[in-house]
Amino acid sequence: MKYERIKGTNDIFGEEIIYWNFVERKAAQTSKLFGYREIRTPIFESTELFTRSVGEETDIVQKEMYTFNDKGGRSLTLRPEGTAPTIRAFIENSMINDGLPQRFYYIGPMFRYERPQAGRLRQFHQFGIELIGSAEPLADVEVIQLAKSFLDSLGLNSYKIYVNSIGCPKCRVQYKNALKEYYSEHYGEICEDCKKRFQSNIMRLLDCKKDVEIAQKAPKTVEYLCDECKQHYEKFKHILKSLNIAFEEDGNLVRGLDYYTRTVFEIKHSLLGAQSAILAGGRYDGLCKELGGTDLPALGFAAGIERLVLAIRSEQLQIPHDSYCDVYVIPLNEQAVIKAFEISDSLRKREINVITDVNLRPIKVQLKHANRLNAITAIIIGDEELLKNTVQIKDLLDQTQSEVEFEYAVDYVSDILRNKKLKN
Ligand code: HAM
Repeated sequence: MKYERIKGTNDIFGEEIIYWNFVERKAAQTSKLFGYREIRTPIFESTELFTRSVGEETDIVQKEMYTFNDKGGRSLTLRPEGTAPTIRAFIENSMINDGLPQRFYYIGPMFRYERPQAGRLRQFHQFGIELIGSAEPLADVEVIQLAKSFLDSLGLNSYKIYVNSIGCPKCRVQYKNALKEYYSEHYGEICEDCKKRFQSNIMRLLDCKKDVEIAQKAPKTVEYLCDECKQHYEKFKHILKSLNIAFEEDGNLVRGLDYYTRTVFEIKHSLLGAQSAILAGGRYDGLCKELGGTDLPALGFAAGIERLVLAIRSEQLQIPHDSYCDVYVIPLNEQAVIKAFEISDSLRKREINVITDVNLRPIKVQLKHANRLNAITAIIIGDEELLKNTVQIKDLLDQTQSEVEFEYAVDYVSDILRNKKLKN
């Protein structure tokens, strides 16, 4: 029996994992630079958490959730996104007592039963951030600034920030009426999906991939904003401009999750084709209350790690050398094993990555293996070296070899690595 991975999932290894480690490292670093702390929530939650927050009528809840009953008869769902779980955890653990605002980041797998294609998976991974407890446009600016710093830290160039404001529940009533009126006039021309959404979730019609022209001419949310929402949006854009953060307004940007209010944004990468949204988010001022907590404004974003890796590769960016084997230690017989383990251990105490051979294969095979692992040096210990209390140190880049006394071997190897600027 041969087992295969489930459709829409990926094994991530080899060269690919170097990109993933790089992206995740930059995500954590950037988050910390902005004072965001990591949060880890469970992979599954009660189904109701998502129907309540993401919204009954959204594609995610209607078609895409991995929902199952556990043996206790509870309806559980593999998390399709990270915002609702973060807010659930915030409320449940009374984190509000630690003062406001609070800033969180997370990295982890999410699950949506979508039609798989390049950049769209059923198990995908997000880096997300959430800022809870500020209604100010400054918070919106901070979140965009963090997103931009993060993408810049990856070296990405070909991306563009799109923003919009979808207002609050108050101004949205009027807007939805206007939209209904407009789409009633075009009802005969819209696709079957849109006809269904016309009743249940009219704003989704705006980002229909089929009826693009009709959507483009539809009334825009910004034309219906109440005074407070308008002021918020104007101040947000004004600060972005003052900070020279380039963005474009997209009146049709409405997002696929129901919890959003006011500012929404998306960052698209120009070389990615259909799945070009590498990062997206916005404000969700009603969510905390909706989930049973204090009425707190909040906002955030999430970026798809698969898409970020595709974007880095599409721009052919160099990412830092990520070595997991600087030194390969080769004992040539049973007696040399103890010395090999000792020297490996001393090197690791200096934060040098070492693989010690555990198969006792012939030296030629070992050296080939060391080269394949991109090791920089090999340490060889045979009968003669044991007798003389020395080791052979082979520089695998220059192909030079020296015999060094055992007690100086660690310093010698450290020097080689430092000279090659691979270690400090
Ligand atoms: P979202 O737009 O559903 O928002 O997802 C955010 C990002 O996750 C997308 O822009 C994309 O890069 C990635 N993504 C989504 N679905 C897939 C998929 N099937 N395969 C690969 N990548 C995918 C949210 O999830 C919100 N929770 C973001 C947020 C945080 N809003 C406020 N705070």
